[in-house]
Amino acid sequence: MANSFMSQWVYTDTVKEHFMNPRNLWQDGEDFEADGIGEVGSLACGDQMRVGIKVVDGKIQDLRWLTYGCASAIASTSMMSEMAIGMTLEEAYHLTPTMIMDELGGLPEHKFHCSVLGDKALRAAIDDYLEKQGMPNPYKNKVAKVMCECKNVTDVQIEELVKAGKVHSFEELQELTGVSTVCGKCKNKIKEELEELLHIYSK
Ligand code: FES
Repeated sequence: MANSFMSQWVYTDTVKEHFMNPRNLWQDGEDFEADGIGEVGSLACGDQMRVGIKVVDGKIQDLRWLTYGCASAIASTSMMSEMAIGMTLEEAYHLTPTMIMDELGGLPEHKFHCSVLGDKALRAAIDDYLEKQGMPNPYKNKVAKVMCECKNVTDVQIEELVKAGKVHSFEELQELTGVSTVCGKCKNKIKEELEELLHIYSK
């Protein structure tokens, strides 16, 4: 019964496996002394993510995460945690949802926005680490700007979708990422940004 239920999922086997056996979860009560902690998302929107990192010699030696997100958020953050451990801070800072999704073998398109929380929280944890060390952040000028706070969607993600030819209108972007479906305050600025991107990348 359980098997037939699982076989109806539209997720890849890798996604299912990471969802059922998430790696590097921050267990309740676990004694993990993080050097940097990042938190993104909001409970009001049903998704919140916390990532903690330990850093040794400029590399991520260990990582723990915790989320209230859905199966896609859990699987993508589990995969992100495996990819990030061992990376330099710079490499980890440039980990994108697309790279994580590729490793997962893809996610259903309407679940794209669920995969963005982990890498954002990771960047926030690196920011926190560098700040605590009193070190300048050489990566920050390349940081993507959050366009929709409720759904944690950045200008870089929107640009990637337009570039890849997956988005041709605001409605398509909304369908794919969920932008402007909660408070709606981001609608005008996203429409403006999208218009510009469509203009830049239209063939
Ligand atoms: S900022 Fe809330 S829906 Fe966009």
